[in-house]
Amino acid sequence: MKLRIAVLAGDGIGPEVIAEAVRALRTVAAFGGYDFSFTDHPVGGAAIRATGDPLPRATLDACLESDAVLLGAVGGPEFDALPPAQRPETGLLLLRQALGGFANLRPVVCHAAVAGCSPLRPEVVRGADIMFVRELLGGIYFGEPRGFEGAAAAFNTMRYSVAEIERVARVAFDQARRRRRKVTSVDKANVLETSRLWRQVVTRVGRGFPDVALEHAYVDSCAMHLVSRPASFDVVLAENLFGDILSDEAGVIAGSLGLLASATIGGEVDLYEPVHGSAPDIAGQGLANPLGAIASAALLLRHSAGLEEEARAIESAIEGVLAAGYRTADLAHGSGGRKVSTAEMGRAVELRLGDCLQRQHAYHAV
Ligand code: IPM
Ligand code: MG
Repeated sequence: MKLRIAVLAGDGIGPEVIAEAVRALRTVAAFGGYDFSFTDHPVGGAAIRATGDPLPRATLDACLESDAVLLGAVGGPEFDALPPAQRPETGLLLLRQALGGFANLRPVVCHAAVAGCSPLRPEVVRGADIMFVRELLGGIYFGEPRGFEGAAAAFNTMRYSVAEIERVARVAFDQARRRRRKVTSVDKANVLETSRLWRQVVTRVGRGFPDVALEHAYVDSCAMHLVSRPASFDVVLAENLFGDILSDEAGVIAGSLGLLASATIGGEVDLYEPVHGSAPDIAGQGLANPLGAIASAALLLRHSAGLEEEARAIESAIEGVLAAGYRTADLAHGSGGRKVSTAEMGRAVELRLGDCLQRQHAYHAV
């Protein structure tokens, strides 16, 4: 098994959390005798500083030549005044577009050990296990025309084609088949034409999946139900902007945004990144939670390498460190536990991961 991984650590806490994700991947490679290679490339603010461009050609080419891309986070306050085309976020959006992945999977699980870290009551979040499927290449993020009308006004365009909706809807139904067979499709069909089309197309695609229950929800009401009865959701399918907003909201279900991972699939090269941002206020202090990045590495093994067992081993190691009480700063306000740094958390996962892989190995040997 050979895997070329392009590592784009990016800005803020990106490098710290990605170092721990790479540590987990190296552990898996060493244990299984796999040949994983890692090459570092600048993106976002780091790339602006080095080259003036948030997505240098060399970075993009390296990503396109790799088997998977692992990205930290982009952005920082020093770039806020730059024109849109030169912002770090533009580098990420161009990268997503160039890689072609249109379906962004964002699993949100409430781990029992940290249910007390959520600002929501434990009995509300307990048992929540949601798979967000966010459309990533369309909608208002990319719609044309867009721009400023001088200093007096500004505008964006939300646009969706039938084909764009169909392909991401299929991913959602397919995910539901591996889970609890329910899709909640999010829209604003009471107001937006794009949402009316979204609802029609998702309904039609759903007919091909008669074993999966489909419900439609307006985005405003869905936002409320996500925090009032999160355990009632299975797969949540949403267009780009709605998915962006709802997946951050879902961070409170998990207990911290720092726990959330994502996989962007369906394109030429798949892209893995934690859901959280660059958090410049805590960068470089060992305060960041690396578990979202490490969980993204698990998704990489699952979707880009077919290493399901190893992906599960990483996920149980994460479960294990949380159950054992390890808490980075973002989780430390919950009950009990031992406060650890980013690197200490990464090493705790590494240790447990070794045990999990060993157990799987022993299981196969008998
Ligand atoms: C995310 C982020 C990005 C997005 C930003 C950094 C462009 O918020 O991945 O959720 O809006 O997609
Ligand atoms: Mg976001």
